[in-house]
Amino acid sequence: MTPKKVVFESLKWMLTDPVRFFKNYNRNVYYKKQIEKQQFVTQLPTIDLLTLFNGTFESELERYTFLENTSTVLDLCLLKELARGINDCRYFEIGSLRGESLYNVAKVAKHCTALTLSHEQMKQFKFKPSLLKSANMLSSEIKNMTLIEDNSLTYDFSKLGKFDLIFVDGDHTYNGVKSDTNNVFNHLIHENSIIVWHDYTYYPETVRHEVLAGILDGIPSSHHKYLYHISNTMCAIYTTNPNITAEMLSFPTVPNKLFHVKVKAQKL
Ligand SMILES: C[S@@+](CC[C@H](N)C(=O)[O-])C[C@H]1O[C@@H](n2cnc3c(N)ncnc32)[C@H](O)[C@@H]1O
Repeated sequence: MTPKKVVFESLKWMLTDPVRFFKNYNRNVYYKKQIEKQQFVTQLPTIDLLTLFNGTFESELERYTFLENTSTVLDLCLLKELARGINDCRYFEIGSLRGESLYNVAKVAKHCTALTLSHEQMKQFKFKPSLLKSANMLSSEIKNMTLIEDNSLTYDFSKLGKFDLIFVDGDHTYNGVKSDTNNVFNHLIHENSIIVWHDYTYYPETVRHEVLAGILDGIPSSHHKYLYHISNTMCAIYTTNPNITAEMLSFPTVPNKLFHVKVKAQKL
């Protein structure tokens, strides 16, 4: 990014979301510098969503809250369609909260396993009472699921087995992402597994360098070439698929696609 663009982007972020801006700005600058020091790129190449799905992308979510602490509609659609594309998909996720990612992926995956903090641990970590109250709200309806309520930073991943699609969306600090990434990489993947990280960006086109630094340091540098960003989403992906095409974009981009969005709400 040119200095002008950095100033423009920062101002835009500060005006649209001032609380989050001031909380995160320093951390982001710090981790961007750390990545630069190690001569890593400070942004991943982007795979266009439509290219990833051979030109057509269509999905639907049955349950979605449109509240904080979940992923965007498109992030969840991405996960669901990745899972649908894998025969008898075994899905694993770190960090479930209300279970929105879990619920929607479970519709198309063969089996889902989730590792997420227990109520007691959430209390210890000072999660707000409303979040405690809504934890597992949607997951409790899922039949094809194993729920492990524990802390991923201390959990023994070696007993879990292998998974086809893994979503990392738990502790978003540098140490948290690095530890989860390392555990996933060392214990849960086979040669065709796909890993998706949430919050690789703050918005679809603003990189969250703390998370990127954790991803880069969590896997061997020889595998960095398999890391990408998926356009229009807040997700990074690890895939060894040899047919992937990606490019280093300059953000913000000029839109190259439009989405059809239909929204329907029902009171609980
Ligand atoms: C952003 S929410 C997950 C949202 C969900 N994946 C979705 O898309 O709707 C983060 C979740 O990670 C959990 N979490 C945070 N730190 C964790 C840790 N160390 N181990 C396990 N879960 C963790 C929190 O309890 C919370 O439920």
